[in-house]
Order: sequence, then C-alpha cells, then structure tokens
Amino acid sequence: MPRQVRLEQKKAFVSEAMKEAPIAMLLVEDNPADAAWIAEMLAEATTVQFSVMHVNRLSDALTFLREKPFDIILLDLSLPDGSGLDTVMRAHAAVPNIPIVVMSGLGDEDLAVQALHEGAQDYLVKEQVDSHLLVRSVRYAIERRQAEDALQKAHDELELRVRQRTGELVLTNEALLDEIEERKKVEEELAKSRERLAEAQRIVRIGNWDWDIRTNALHWSDEIYRIFGLTSSEFGMTYDAFLQLVHPDDRDSIKKAVSEALYGEPYSIEHRIVLSDGSIRCVHGEGEVTFGESGEPIRMVGTVQDITEKKENEIRLLMSERLAALGQIASGIAHEINNPLAAIAACADGIMNRVRKGQIETELFENYLGIIQEEVARCKGITTSMLSFVRKAIYEKKYVDVNYVLDKTLELIGFQGRLKEVEVIKNYRGVLTVFGSEGELRQVFLALLVNALDAMGDRGALTLNTATISGDTDDRNEGSSVFITIRDNGPGIPPEFVGKVFDPFFTTKADAGGIGLGLSIVNTIIKDHNGTIQVSSEQGKGTAFRIILPK
Ligand SMILES: Nc1ncnc2c1ncn2[C@@H]1O[C@H](COP(=O)(O)OP(=O)(O)O)[C@@H](O)[C@H]1O
Ligand SMILES: [Mg+2]
Repeated sequence: MPRQVRLEQKKAFVSEAMKEAPIAMLLVEDNPADAAWIAEMLAEATTVQFSVMHVNRLSDALTFLREKPFDIILLDLSLPDGSGLDTVMRAHAAVPNIPIVVMSGLGDEDLAVQALHEGAQDYLVKEQVDSHLLVRSVRYAIERRQAEDALQKAHDELELRVRQRTGELVLTNEALLDEIEERKKVEEELAKSRERLAEAQRIVRIGNWDWDIRTNALHWSDEIYRIFGLTSSEFGMTYDAFLQLVHPDDRDSIKKAVSEALYGEPYSIEHRIVLSDGSIRCVHGEGEVTFGESGEPIRMVGTVQDITEKKENEIRLLMSERLAALGQIASGIAHEINNPLAAIAACADGIMNRVRKGQIETELFENYLGIIQEEVARCKGITTSMLSFVRKAIYEKKYVDVNYVLDKTLELIGFQGRLKEVEVIKNYRGVLTVFGSEGELRQVFLALLVNALDAMGDRGALTLNTATISGDTDDRNEGSSVFITIRDNGPGIPPEFVGKVFDPFFTTKADAGGIGLGLSIVNTIIKDHNGTIQVSSEQGKGTAFRIILPK
C-alpha cells in the first residue's frame, strides 16, 4: 500500500527545483492519500520537474482542461462522477491531444488495458508503481503523444498535399477532357471539309495528288482514282505505276514536263490516259515541285482534271465552225462554178449546132474545145481545193509550210470570187516551217481572211506578212518562231470590242449570219499549237491579227 500523504484539494504541487520548463500535469484523483503519495513521487524525480494541478472530480478536470493547457492527465479510473472506461472516453473526447495515463487498482488491470483502446497512452497499477516508473510512464506518454502528433501532422500534411495534387489532377483532367472534346470537334470539322473537298472534286472532275519524291510514295485523292477508273487497292502508288496508265505516245512529254518541274518550272499539260477497258480519256495535269533548304526537290503536288467531255465539245464546235465555213465557201463556189459551166455549155452548144449542120470548122472547134478543157480544169481545181479542206489527213500534225497553207486558203477564197476587188500584198520570207495541223491552220487563216473581207466589204487591201522572229530566213534556226500577220484596211474594231473579239459567240454580224465562233476557235487552235495571237486595230484604218508559232 502507498504511504498516506495529506493533500489540500485543488492545490498544485510544484517541485522545488525548476531548471527546465516543468511538465504541466492535471492529476484527477479523489483519494487524498493517493494524491499526496503521487505528488511525493513526482517531487522525487531528479531529471524533470512537474507542475501539478490536482482535482477530485472529472467535471472539475474537464473545466480546467478547457481553461488551461496541460502536458498530461493522470487519471484515476474510479471517481465520484465517473468510473471505468467512461471516464477515459469523456476525458479523451474533451482533449484528444493531451496524453492520458490511467491509474487503477490491482483488480482493475483488464479495465486499464481496455482504457488504452479508448485513447489512454499508458496505465499504472497503483500497488506496483514507484517514482521511477511513474515519471518514466508520464514522460513516455508525453513523448509518444508528441511523436503521434508529429506523425499525425505529417500524415495530415501528406493528406493535404494528396488532396491538393488530386485537385490539380482533377483540373488537369477536366482540361484534358475539354481538349479532347475540342479535338473531336476539330476532327469532325476536318472530316466535313474533306467530304466537301471530295464532293467539289467529283463535281469539277479534278483530283489532286501529292508525291513524296524522297520515298517515291504517291497519294491520290479519290477523284483521281475515279478518273483513272481504279480503286486504291488496284494501284500501287508510285510515279512509274502512274506512267503505265498514260497513253504510250504521251509518256515522253510527261517525263519531260516532270523533269523540267524538278528544275523549278511548274508544268501544265494535256495528255491521254488508257483505262483498263482500253478506252482513252483526255486529262489536264498540273504539277509543281517544293524544294528543300539546300534546293533539293522534296515534294511534288498537282492536279488531274478529266477534260474528255470538254475536248469532245471543243472538237464538235471546231467541226461546226468548219462546216459553217464550208457551207459559206460552197455557196460562194457554186456561184463561181456557174461561170465556167456557162462557158462550157456555150462552147458545147456552138460545136453541136455546127456538127448538126455538117459544118466542120476545125479551127473554131479547137478553140472551143480548148476553152472547155480550161474551164473543166478550173472547176476541178475548185472542187479539189474544197475537198482538200475536208480531207482528214491534213488534220494530223506534221511539218507544214506556213506560206503554202496561206496560199491554199487564199486560193479557196479566190474561187469564191471574193478577191476580185481586193489587192493582195504578200510579203513572204522563204519557207517557214512549223509543226502543226495543216487543216487547222487553214481554218485559222480562212477565219481571219473571211473576217477581213467581211469588214472591208470585199474591197480594199489585204496584207499578208510572214517572217521568223529574228527576221532572217533561216528556218533551221532552233528555238525561233514564225510570225504571221494578216492586215486589212477595213473600218477597224471599235475600242470597246477589241478585248471581246476572241470571246465565243461575240459577233457584230448576227444579222448577216455571224455566230461569233471564228476567232474563239482560232484562239483555241493557236494555243494548241503553243502559239499566241494578238489583235491590233485602229478605227478607220484597219485591223491586224498577228500570230506567233514556235518552229
Ligand atoms: N478584221 C476585222 N475587222 C473588224 N472587225 C473584226 C475583224 N475580225 C473580227 N472582227 C470582229 O470580231 C467579231 C467576231 O469575229 P468572229 O469570232 O470571227 O465571229 P463572226 O465572224 O461570226 O462574227 C466580228 O463579228 C467582228 O465584229
Ligand atoms: Mg468570223
């Protein structure tokens, strides 16, 4: 049994030696002897000092705890206003941060152990405790409490940081979701505009391609596949595979255009392609090379347009104008043929009359028959000339002499009798050869000459100049061009119309049956011959059309 010590109620025991800050203890003990005994034990401590506040009741303890900070509570388990575990729970609930050491009697050890579960740091059995054990238990309880606090603090901090980080992650996640949403929208937009592009390509029958020169990978848009009558799986996408689809006669010109493009010259060419069913289509191709930093070609992009129908329409138009011109010529010529026919008929009549009467006049007959031969030859010349205009062979491209073609056209017009009151001035330089279609060039000259005669009313001066660009007559001069000028001294073209004369269906002769296709077709033909045509006109003085054709 502990020694009995008298203690004043609510009196603090303070150790004499106060070297360090003393440990503030709340002693909750209703047994005055035990309290005195505990105070004595605490006072014996040499390593640490205590400042002890002693109360008898739990309610007093709770009041003090609210007012004053304590380092430790030494709690008796059987108090007048609380007993057993309930005491510990209430004290711990009131001040969860202050360590509690419980004291029990010998028989209460089980209860003491349970008190540890309810928040007590340690328990002491009154009958077994001494000063040393008490001080050690108190100090350990405080230290453990502090360690636990530190741990709790670290834990709280960690939790806080986890919460902050989680918060950040949530925000990042939200931003990411927004971005994904945004990207989805952009992708949808992209898909839509791709669809629109494909649709546009389908409507105008233009496809585009992209050739990575370094890897030789060739990308075609869907429309190109459609133009070539292929599906993407049928075509190994390379430049060589593409060349295989080109008409054999056009491959060289494509290779040439592409190799020139590799030196920076964009190309624009028309060529034929052969579909798998053997049908031939006509396409217009354009291409342009992108160069790397050191000037090496890295990429080539371009377009392919199916111009088969356009070409066919052009040809139809060309034919219709040709037929219109021929119709005009035919009516003019029919008139011209009537004269020789009348002469032939007159001669034949003369001979017939005399033969019937038995008059044989050898000299006269010879004379008449000579006239008949001459006129027949003339008619034959006219029909031949007319027929030559429609012969298919002359529409193939080969080397032709421009002066010869011009003369043949002039002859045909002459047969119509339209040159009777026209002074034709020819300034021809040598033999000027160009690579072209004789028939088409005749059509060009015919249209220009007929326009000139229309303007002059078949009366005036027609000047025909031909020359090479350098002015010399050496037509072997590589790279030079041929100039052809057809000039009339008619009324000229009003300035407001000069820019329109090449437009299809522009005519000032609608009343006289003009359809306005002549010059538009002239323009097409000259372009097809890689040439140019220009008009200059001065009102009251006349008009000149100047053609330049490469040799
Ligand atoms: N030599 C010319 N002198 C004056 N006007 C011309 C001449 N050539 C062409 N034109 C003008 O250009 C127009 C278009 O010519 P073209 O295309 O040949 O059609 P068309 O002869 O059927 O009218 C003519 O109607 C005429 O007004
Ligand atoms: Mg005309």
